[in-house]
Amino acid sequence: MTFQNTLEFAQQLDNQDELKSWRDQFIFPQHNGKNVIYFTGNSLGLQPKIAKNYVDEVMNDWANLAVEGHFFAEKPWWDYHERFAQPLSKIVGAKPIEVTVMNTLTVNLHLLMVSFYKPTKTRYKIICEEKAFPSDQYMFQTQVKFHGFNPEDAIVEVKRREGEHNIRHEDIIAKINEVGDELALVLFGGVNYYTGQVFNVEQITKAGHNVGAIVGFDLAHAAGNIKLELHDWNVDFAAWCSYKYMNSGPGNASGCFIHEKHHNDKTLNRFAGWWAQNKERRFKMEPKFDPIIGADGWQVSNLPVLSLAPYLASVELFAQVGMDKLIAKRNQLTAYLEFILHEIDKEIPGTEFEIITPSNQEERACQLSVFLHGQGRNLFDYLMAKGVITDWREPNVIRLAPAPFYCSYEDMYNFGQILKEGIQIVNK
Ligand SMILES: Cc1ncc(COP(=O)(O)O)c(C=O)c1O
Repeated sequence: MTFQNTLEFAQQLDNQDELKSWRDQFIFPQHNGKNVIYFTGNSLGLQPKIAKNYVDEVMNDWANLAVEGHFFAEKPWWDYHERFAQPLSKIVGAKPIEVTVMNTLTVNLHLLMVSFYKPTKTRYKIICEEKAFPSDQYMFQTQVKFHGFNPEDAIVEVKRREGEHNIRHEDIIAKINEVGDELALVLFGGVNYYTGQVFNVEQITKAGHNVGAIVGFDLAHAAGNIKLELHDWNVDFAAWCSYKYMNSGPGNASGCFIHEKHHNDKTLNRFAGWWAQNKERRFKMEPKFDPIIGADGWQVSNLPVLSLAPYLASVELFAQVGMDKLIAKRNQLTAYLEFILHEIDKEIPGTEFEIITPSNQEERACQLSVFLHGQGRNLFDYLMAKGVITDWREPNVIRLAPAPFYCSYEDMYNFGQILKEGIQIVNK
């Protein structure tokens, strides 16, 4: 499609957009009486209007039923999480028995490493991406130390080549092959949080398995954003947070995937709790641990139902729309944003910005990360003051993530106009 940087063209794209009415299902912060232009769905998704109903339902059941809500609430609390299995499994390409919701992301990755990072004297290394999200880096360091290894030796980062912003796929595969027999675990992001680069989950998994390693993923920026087929791709385990593209609310619960091939493996370590206990026997309060077969068998505590409520509202919206339609709109919306950035680059000499996200569609999803040379911080402040919500990542990057659920083409056009103004004012 040939794009145009005009309001009429943007509105025409909105009119043709099959998903356009979903925008009204979300609550936008207001700026001078208008919706903000929201680019931070990769950090905290907007609140779906129905989320409040789901929370109110739990609050009302708590008021009216108190402890009896566990079994007699509108959606009984004791198995509240089971309502996620169907819709969530479709979002990440899994069997319902392979997914669960529990805890928060880093906690879940730690718990999954308890099961899946089983270092031996000779096979103990972990491969991850250079500049993985800091929480993951701290997790790797502390897990490796916990097992008595030296992080500097045991953690192998796949690096960017000199002068490049992204990691080359062939370098990931080459590093996996190079570490070979010493490799215990590959734990990669599905999408890099800083650059928005999408990694090839299927190929990385295959390469890890070929050298005898376990392969897991941090899908914080991937779940609800990219096409995932975790079961078919034979991924061993994965976890994601729900507050980004999945719009579940601040700091909210995490989702987990554990491939069914591991469900009956009694050799895997687990840090157990009573919510993983065989459901028929859980309330018999017996000492012998007999876990549920499936991802639910990795749960620890009983569930934070109040925080699961808005997450459930959100996954039910995803189930209505489906990932394929969201991805189709995402591709076009991101391409339109990229086009607008290039147009401004052409119109204003010396704009001094650079898109560092890969330009090919296979390696990018919703996010474009833009490196602002020169007066970057001032430009960011200008955008925020004009109602464009984006975020700043040191040293000079703003991340623009137009979530297809609620962002419009007109937003992209209006953003371009504000950016143009901003560059001219800041550069004066
Ligand atoms: C890629 C990635 N991993 C891990 C985390 C940490 O998530 P949490 O604080 O929910 O553990 C984040 C948070 O933004 C993230 O983006």
